[in-house]
Amino acid sequence: MKNSTKASIQSIVHAQLAGLAVGVLACLFWCSGNSVAQAPSPDSPAIEAKAKAMVAKLTLDQKIKLIGGVDSMFTNDIPAINLPRLKMSDASVGVRTWGPTTAYAGGAALAATWDREFAKELGEALGRDARARGVNFLLGPGVNIAKAPVNGRNFEYLSEDPYLNGALVAPYIEGVQSQGVSATVKHYALNNEEYNRHNVDVTADERTIRELYLPAFEAAVKQGHVDAVMDSYNLINGSHATQNEFLNLKVLKGKWGFLGVLMSDWDATYDGVAAANNGLDLEMPSPRFMNQQTLSTAVKNGTVKEATIDDKVLRLFRLALRYGWLDRPQLDTTQSTYSIADREVALKGALKSITLLKNEGHTLPLDQSKVKTIAIIGPDAWPAVTGGGGSSEAASFAPISIVTGIGNLVGPDVHVLYARGLPEMGDVFWQTHWEKGLTESTYQNKTFSGAAETATPQNINNYKQEWWGPEDKTPRSIRYSASFEAPKTGKYLVLAAASESDHFTVSVDGKQVIEQAQVEGQHPESATVDMSAGQTIKVVADYLPGFVGNRFGLGVVNEEDMIAADAKKFASVADVVILAVGFNTTTESEGFDRSFTLPWGQDALVEAIAAVNPHTVVTFIGGGGFDTRRWLDKVPALVHAWYPGQEGGTAIAQVLFGKHDPEGRLPVSFDRSWQDDPSYAFYYPIKGADTKLHVMENNHPAVDYDIPHVKYDDKLMVGYRYWTTTGKHPLFPFGFGLSYTTFSFSNLNVPATATSGSTVPVSFDVTNSGATEGAEVAQIYVSDPSSKAKRPERELKGFEKVQLAPGETKHVTISLDARAFSYWDETKHDWTIDPGKFIVLVGDSSENTPLHADLTVN
Ligand code: BGC
Repeated sequence: MKNSTKASIQSIVHAQLAGLAVGVLACLFWCSGNSVAQAPSPDSPAIEAKAKAMVAKLTLDQKIKLIGGVDSMFTNDIPAINLPRLKMSDASVGVRTWGPTTAYAGGAALAATWDREFAKELGEALGRDARARGVNFLLGPGVNIAKAPVNGRNFEYLSEDPYLNGALVAPYIEGVQSQGVSATVKHYALNNEEYNRHNVDVTADERTIRELYLPAFEAAVKQGHVDAVMDSYNLINGSHATQNEFLNLKVLKGKWGFLGVLMSDWDATYDGVAAANNGLDLEMPSPRFMNQQTLSTAVKNGTVKEATIDDKVLRLFRLALRYGWLDRPQLDTTQSTYSIADREVALKGALKSITLLKNEGHTLPLDQSKVKTIAIIGPDAWPAVTGGGGSSEAASFAPISIVTGIGNLVGPDVHVLYARGLPEMGDVFWQTHWEKGLTESTYQNKTFSGAAETATPQNINNYKQEWWGPEDKTPRSIRYSASFEAPKTGKYLVLAAASESDHFTVSVDGKQVIEQAQVEGQHPESATVDMSAGQTIKVVADYLPGFVGNRFGLGVVNEEDMIAADAKKFASVADVVILAVGFNTTTESEGFDRSFTLPWGQDALVEAIAAVNPHTVVTFIGGGGFDTRRWLDKVPALVHAWYPGQEGGTAIAQVLFGKHDPEGRLPVSFDRSWQDDPSYAFYYPIKGADTKLHVMENNHPAVDYDIPHVKYDDKLMVGYRYWTTTGKHPLFPFGFGLSYTTFSFSNLNVPATATSGSTVPVSFDVTNSGATEGAEVAQIYVSDPSSKAKRPERELKGFEKVQLAPGETKHVTISLDARAFSYWDETKHDWTIDPGKFIVLVGDSSENTPLHADLTVN
């Protein structure tokens, strides 16, 4: 962004605030993003008065029109008061809704940077991109806690820790909003799984909610001064987020003093009157419930006060006036739609987030002078996988794949050999040879019963990628029965896929091996079976289509034969193999949960390639932890590259070849297996406990939704809080990441005593004790052994990313505020500090804290 433009945006904002009674407070807000103000500063009395005057000019109908969206991504205009339509865009990894964009390393990758300054820089870049597209509301950041690794949207969110999320979200928002664009923190709240996300009712106690699931939103409001909040799809303790009195009125607008706009997620509203009375200001994307028909009647009969509607409109006007949206075009043609400056931010984010998890025998960094032939193998090697799927999916102008990134870096003297290594899914479906033929029986009911129409296709290859389709109103069920004979002894992969809202099961010799429930989106499912040569298995798939047509695919393939011959050949001649595995937009996405195991075939690929070339570096793309058990001990190095955005290939190449130290640190605990995860038993709905929700929408037949219930009985025992409290260990702990250099911590200084509620300065030294430059993330955890309430053994309360030259030492000082020592007292319904002993621990992960000191709080 040109400085002159930056100055002009600031001057608009400041001119509106200058000279006003609360100017000083406002400047605290605008001038220092890290301000620890306790509640958002109100707008100037002038803005407040002008906003109220605008509201007064409107009829009730006009006001109601303003609290419902239009054309999917806009608010309505009112030309009479000069109010334009306000434009929105997603969000998490780039300003994506309006054509190609710059795709950044956002969400979990941002959290892996542990870098507040970068969070602000990223926010500024997104703000500039938004202005270049005339966007008023950026529909991000997402800050839901990464409670479990299978949540399909973790990659869009940040970390498993509320403090880390809060520390990054505030500067991010400050960055976005500094460009005259409103940020929208989402999804408020307890939206920690995609599984049946519209309908699950999450039950959690207040302490768990306050300590784990709300602090990032609280920081967004109180420290980031976010302009907008997006309510989530799910229900929380019995009521949908969009009509949740506790969350919206008591906490957000009450206790936290939020003065901005509370909007719904897209089609997350279920009751116009309840939403209007419980804090929802804007129903997106259209007024299905908060509309004229419902609300003008409700105002007339007194169930909704006109003042309640006025307040919603007032909130929108505040933002419009604060940013000058009535007076200047939001589209800023002095910004670039595509720019090298943005690409630099994208590269920086990718470089800062790449996390090295295993590096046996100093396999990395690779020595460019010694590598003559490099094989790059795997489904994530090309094309570039910049992000996960769903509404955040950003089509980038110039995505750099791992193949092209490495090729560009090593130059013409190194042979770069690329192979995907695995077949495409459709190839498995059509190439499966069903030994005794295949029968497709279509029943005119949903129970696979009675007479069926039969066909004998050659294969089951109807899978299509689309999410949506016209709903199938005719009851149908399709059963496929087939036999498969193993041509040789070995492991066989049974692979199946269907589209959203389909349900299927697959059984082998009468035993069910796969079930895909009928929930929002879907990803391919697989199972492995051991077979000996000549053995025949009977495969039966029961498929219930949700949409018109048939979108089901099924195949069986020998795992060894599935690995492409060219991949094995390339691996055998290469000095080093970069094996790029992981997820992509079709396997990790909004709308469905992902598997903890790598997508189908990839475990077998790693095993096969590592067997050919032991000098194999596994590079993973995805939003969190995954199952490495089949091969981790067979490869010397593992690099977690998150979703690295469009410059991922360049960044990965630079890290692999030691041009940049791997400075990312895990923002989540990395489990061995999904079953090991502390939230595993509390993730899926309680079986048999579904209830009904009767929803009436004007001019539509009433719908009875099934409401499944998920109980957060893991309470505070999420991620490292569980591991450190129980003394058990995940595969890699929260905060962990290797570097090419080494660091040490010393000279911890903590006062012996402190008064309850005071700020406690903690200082220590971090030294780069190795031979190359690098960055360490110094982490402070606090333990409260004398607390009256049972607390997690330790909790993150401070961190600092420290860049150090070889041999350099930096003195770090971090202030711990009252919240660092507090917990939520369920009786007082407030934060409390129990005086007594605390332990301050300093180190480089939740498990490695070499420095510690006692502190008595009086
Ligand atoms: C997502 C939101 C997104 C919205 C608009 C919804 O499906 O949950 O995160 O902002 O769509 O695209």
